Amino acid sequence: AGDNALVTDPATPQAVLGSLTEAAIFLVATVDEGGEDVVRGLLADVGGLTRAVGFRSADGDLTCVTAIGAAVWPRLRLGDAPSGLHPFREFHGARHTAIATPGDLLFHIRARRMDLCFELASLIAARLAGAVTVVDEVHGFRYFEQRDLLGFVDGTENPVGAGAAAAVLTDEPGFEGGSYVIVQKYLHDMEAWNALTTEDQERVIGRRKLSDVELSDDEQPADSHVALTSITDDDGEELEILRDNMPFGRPGAGEFGTYFIGYAADPAVTERMLENMFIGDPPGRHDRILDFSVAVTGGLFFAPHSEFLADLGDPPAPPATARSLNIGSLRRSDAS
Ligand code: HEM
Repeated sequence: AGDNALVTDPATPQAVLGSLTEAAIFLVATVDEGGEDVVRGLLADVGGLTRAVGFRSADGDLTCVTAIGAAVWPRLRLGDAPSGLHPFREFHGARHTAIATPGDLLFHIRARRMDLCFELASLIAARLAGAVTVVDEVHGFRYFEQRDLLGFVDGTENPVGAGAAAAVLTDEPGFEGGSYVIVQKYLHDMEAWNALTTEDQERVIGRRKLSDVELSDDEQPADSHVALTSITDDDGEELEILRDNMPFGRPGAGEFGTYFIGYAADPAVTERMLENMFIGDPPGRHDRILDFSVAVTGGLFFAPHSEFLADLGDPPAPPATARSLNIGSLRRSDAS
């Protein structure tokens, strides 16, 4: 046992291991100057809000993962940041770029039904009004047979069970059960994509379109998406992340997209995949999926364990004068 009582607190991961759902909302916001206290209050309460909405539909599987970016971490007075948290690393390849875009907070809201996601997003947005600027909001839907809008089954090779937990949850002291999350919003050039034959599309992705079976080693091109994102460590062990990509779009506006979200115990794993995709392996041999998909956002966040967020609702340690007056134990009244 440590000498600090906080050290022995349980560390319950947020719902990063949640199963694939029919609906999702991705909210990315920047914290306005002076909005920090409102944000801390919401971070402490977001678990309660999620339970309040979710309990109304027990089979709706509503979850929310709340994650925090590097730049806002000190502004929110959260103490030392987890060691792997930094601004999103950009990757500039010869042809394609993974850009970084603003974002201090990410809310990854999932449920079997959009009404649950919508209700929770509404409550979160109302609580944060005036304290943050929402810089991106994507409503994703599950498409036929877990397919992305390119028509391929997406998520097959995700780790499951204990392997998934090991791949996504950090064991860094003080941050146990937390997870690093990278998001990128991709827009697809459907005209160019649909001009390819099915066989050519299969060589871009690296799997069969109808059956979802991976191409054999003989058939697998070195610049397919599967080839460039299948990576191993020095011992030949596979390095994995947990993805929960969602299709989104507005057909009337010609918008067809994939919202990429990847959880990892170490963001360097996801970053190596991005490096392979955008710079190429070897450099110059980039991921063919990028010839039909442009990344218009990019962000890295850390999703702390649930108690880390809930504890933010406790009043800050009272200043010495308040303690001597013996009023330090009074809870601040909630302004709402
Ligand atoms: C595999 C789609 C972006 C990492 C796949 C598969 C599809 C797919 C269809 C094959 C089935 C599967 O195993 O899930 C997409 C689309 C993207 C995208 C449409 C955006 C345009 C990314 C990004 C990363 C990534 C940005 C990582 C930074 C992976 C990994 C696999 C995979 C690790 C599994 C590879 C394997 O072990 O076989 N993706 N993906 N994907 N993708 Fe993506």
